[in-house]
Amino acid sequence: MAKLLGIDVGTSGCKVLLIDEFGTVLKQASAEYPLSVPQPLWSEQNPEDWWAGVQKCLAEINEPDIDAIGVAGQMHGSVFLDDKDEVIRPAILWNDQRTSEECREIDETIGAERVRQITCNPPLTGFQLPKLLWLRNNELSNYQRLRTILLPKDYIRFKLTGIKATEVSDASGTGIFDVPNRRWSTEMMAALEIDPSIFPPCFESHEASSKTASGIPVVGGGGDQAAAAVGTGAVKNGVISVSLGTSGVVFTAIDGPQYDIAGAAHTFCHANGGWHAMGVMLSCGGALRWYRDTLCAGMTYDEIAAEAEFIEPGAGGLTFLPYLTGERCPHNDPFARAAFGGLTLGHTHAHLSRAVFEGVSFGLLDGMNLLRGLGAKADEIRITSGGAKSRFWVQLLADLFQTPCVTLACDEGPAYGAAILAGVGIGLWGSVSEACEQTVKIRARFEPSGTDYSSKYERYTKLYSQTSGWNAR
Ligand code: XUL
Repeated sequence: MAKLLGIDVGTSGCKVLLIDEFGTVLKQASAEYPLSVPQPLWSEQNPEDWWAGVQKCLAEINEPDIDAIGVAGQMHGSVFLDDKDEVIRPAILWNDQRTSEECREIDETIGAERVRQITCNPPLTGFQLPKLLWLRNNELSNYQRLRTILLPKDYIRFKLTGIKATEVSDASGTGIFDVPNRRWSTEMMAALEIDPSIFPPCFESHEASSKTASGIPVVGGGGDQAAAAVGTGAVKNGVISVSLGTSGVVFTAIDGPQYDIAGAAHTFCHANGGWHAMGVMLSCGGALRWYRDTLCAGMTYDEIAAEAEFIEPGAGGLTFLPYLTGERCPHNDPFARAAFGGLTLGHTHAHLSRAVFEGVSFGLLDGMNLLRGLGAKADEIRITSGGAKSRFWVQLLADLFQTPCVTLACDEGPAYGAAILAGVGIGLWGSVSEACEQTVKIRARFEPSGTDYSSKYERYTKLYSQTSGWNAR
């Protein structure tokens, strides 16, 4: 029996799964770590905490006999290493919003059109490149010590193998990667006067780019969203997946690298050798967690969902905007803010709970509409990650998307996808598509109930346009 290990370095914690060649989960473990917000708009973590979490999970899984490993993780973050491979400062994460000046600098230096031709995306505050420029502009002594910049999961690869490497799906989210040609953009590095040697070599996601000390191959793996899409089977046209993690992502494979002219959806290299488009909202499960931790006096997610379910659609006129860390898609507005709009004395805690679930789901509908605008169509939508455990939430999404939604036998999308990529890397399957066909299994299906949310969605959209001036500028 083959044994494949998938590691996901998430934002709230890490997950490690061991699967066999039928896709059955044999063992799993998880660990949490803190997130630090030293200033409003900032978001940081200590890479050593990720490594401690992964080591704890590996000890719990305690499997001596592993055939291959795949790593996945939160995208876009920057791990800064010095000449001794020590971490220079805390990693700056995907939902950090400090770099709007640096995004302007990239467009001004290279030319907005050329940036989009090369990277297939506008420069965005969450991406890695603006963070590197922020370090140069704001912490020059740290920048002068910098010898290597890694993405979060690639730091874990480095700790596992001693090899610095990345792969195309995660490199696409740095903002300095030539997405059509699947390689680093030396043109952008030269224009921005960045030393190319700080970036690790880049491989395809299924390629076994390194080995652990005991000789286990470690494949490229993927950014958590591309890996999650492998874990749901979203590796061909006609399959759309939605990931309900800290961020919320609507994802589809596409035929070729195609810049979304509105600049609102991302185009990245997919982990299957092709490309994908996605809409990313920054606070999805993250908004629910904030709500649970600040306003719910010890309630569990299940208890919050249970009280929300008894409230009528539209939450009695109450609307929640989930922009607790600004918003990426579709607004690309680091200064967007969250809000409850329309509160009256008649509202109860259960109305707030309903409004929060509806607000984050409207954010996902924004992402779905972006992909539909690019021509994406699907007969059913595959839902993964933590939120997929909530039947109430998945039904709400089926109603909002007006399309059946399915959950999967394994809803740990990124770790599961990373393990599948590991199997492709050692030739267990001939391709990523073949691997998905043999492993990904549907657990439950939710049909749209016919509830019409159009006027509620309109209210949500209006509230953003009315509040977009409330910011920290
Ligand atoms: C994707 C994105 C997030 C992070 C964290 O573009 O920013 O989904 O990868 O999960």
